[in-house]
Amino acid sequence: MSWKRTHTCGELDLQQKDKQVVLNGWVDVRRDLGGVIFIDLRDRYGVTQVVFDQTNKELHEKAQQLRSEYVIGVRGTITKRDEENINPQRKTGKIEVRVEEFTIYSKAETPPFEIKDDIETGEEVRLKYRYLDLRRRQMQENLILRSKVCQTVRNFYSNLDFVEVETPVLMRSTPEGARDYLVPSRVNPGRFFALPQSPQTYKQLLMVSGMDRYFQIVKCFRDEDLRADRQPEFTQIDVELSFVDEETIYSIHEKLMADIWKEHLGIEIETPFPRLTYEEAMSRYGTDKPETRFGMPIADLSEIVADCEFKIFSKTVKDGGSVLAISVPGQGTMGRGEIDRLTEEVKSQTGAGGLIYIKSDKGTLNCSVGKFLEEDTVKAMAEKADANDGDLVLILAGPSPAVYRQMGTLRLMMGKRFELIDTSQTHFLWVTNFPLVEWDNETRRYHALHHPFTSPVEEDLDKMESDPGSVKARAYDLVLNGNEIGGGSIRIHQQGLQKQMFKLLGIGDEEAREKFGFLLDAFKYGAPPHGGIAFGLDRIIMLMAGAQSLRDVIAFPKNQKAQSLMDNCPDVVDEHQLKELHIELRKKPKV
Ligand code: AMO
Repeated sequence: MSWKRTHTCGELDLQQKDKQVVLNGWVDVRRDLGGVIFIDLRDRYGVTQVVFDQTNKELHEKAQQLRSEYVIGVRGTITKRDEENINPQRKTGKIEVRVEEFTIYSKAETPPFEIKDDIETGEEVRLKYRYLDLRRRQMQENLILRSKVCQTVRNFYSNLDFVEVETPVLMRSTPEGARDYLVPSRVNPGRFFALPQSPQTYKQLLMVSGMDRYFQIVKCFRDEDLRADRQPEFTQIDVELSFVDEETIYSIHEKLMADIWKEHLGIEIETPFPRLTYEEAMSRYGTDKPETRFGMPIADLSEIVADCEFKIFSKTVKDGGSVLAISVPGQGTMGRGEIDRLTEEVKSQTGAGGLIYIKSDKGTLNCSVGKFLEEDTVKAMAEKADANDGDLVLILAGPSPAVYRQMGTLRLMMGKRFELIDTSQTHFLWVTNFPLVEWDNETRRYHALHHPFTSPVEEDLDKMESDPGSVKARAYDLVLNGNEIGGGSIRIHQQGLQKQMFKLLGIGDEEAREKFGFLLDAFKYGAPPHGGIAFGLDRIIMLMAGAQSLRDVIAFPKNQKAQSLMDNCPDVVDEHQLKELHIELRKKPKV
């Protein structure tokens, strides 16, 4: 007898009434009501109610052994449910299948958690039993959305003459800020490949090859400290084009995002997207990925307090730092205890030295350091912060740019705490005009804000040596609701300028030759001007799905310690494997 399914569990309705069907799936819920057994049979497509009544005693008896997560096949006839049993929430809610025969494909032990939406099971358990977690509707929907978006992306680029090219997974390291995952080579003793942090150099070489327009949906690997929006293994939508400027890249990708949102979320996104320079983003929002779905811009009070009696303010300004404020609407009556708690939180989360406030309540201003300040000064500060009656002005003082970042964090904290963010909105935003390099006090050298292949703007070329910190880059990020979802740049395509850039980053001629000789050589043989961008696919899907973590949109993710709990990796390997790879461990791992 064939148990080949005639339908899925998500498609039957009254149109098929009286038809005999075969369904396959998992027992979702079993209810035994007055001698009639009802089973919700579940597969990826939905749930169908199947019924075992007493007409066939033997069958009914056999059905008593069915338990949640058993995999079964049923044959039966579709009947209309009684009026009072209709479930309007479900596509199959008007019918049920009266079972005539069934088979058990496999039994199941009681799963460690219930397979349903909104479980409160800890994530560690979900990750250990990921195959069960992935049976849940929400997780399946996320993966299906991901698959569909990838399809849209592929069609979009293909229609614009982009070619999908696969680049190597075993490569030489590209310095893009994170640590590499290394892979030893058995046949080349003592030598290592690196897994790509991104295919940056390859896509540029493809431009030198004349490929003109490239894209790839590609796995990237970065050994960095993990957060909710970072995975060690993640996916980029990676793109590169020849003979383009920023405008072409912006307009193509505004259309891509608008198409994705329209097709998969039914949301119209207005284009072109707004743009902010890096400087504007930092001074207004204290971050290069501003959440613009609420106001509360940062106000600079430095000028007002430069000569005041309160030493923390005046000294900060004298030392070249800034005194910044935000005005939190409607919180002017916040109690002392709450402000004290907030101060401690701000100190620990942002690294700020302290928090000063002005409460505006019923026409009076009450400043926490009011006794050191003239009344007019406090008034001017509140005005500059755009405080209305009833607002709470929060003030931080410190060296720039650190204090801007601290204020940016505080602004976001307040926005979230007081639910000021309009989450019904979708805000795409380009951040442009990044500095080319940033001075790192720890390593005492410049490092590239994007990566070493990003072109400086032409007007600043003569400052590359004299004042590198002021040189702007032809780089851009795409920000969505306060998340960096993509970044790219117009590249350097001249050997000389690339060498100059390496020098600026403290990469000497010899090291540059050793690490990037192939790229510098390629530029000798006719390199077109080119540029591109890469988007974080996981982040895009996370935001589209309204998920809280990248782990909810990746089938088999790693946890915060970069481990896979399900198959328990990374793990120790046999001594002989290490030997073959010419590796001796300095420290034996604990097993
Ligand atoms: P960048 O390093 O900015 O640029 O990466 C591009 C985008 O990839 C996503 N992303 C990540 N997503 C999840 N987990 C991570 N650990 C992670 N790291 C980055 C982000 C980011 O915006 N080669 C350049 C691109 C270019 O210049 O064309 C690059 O990789 O959404």
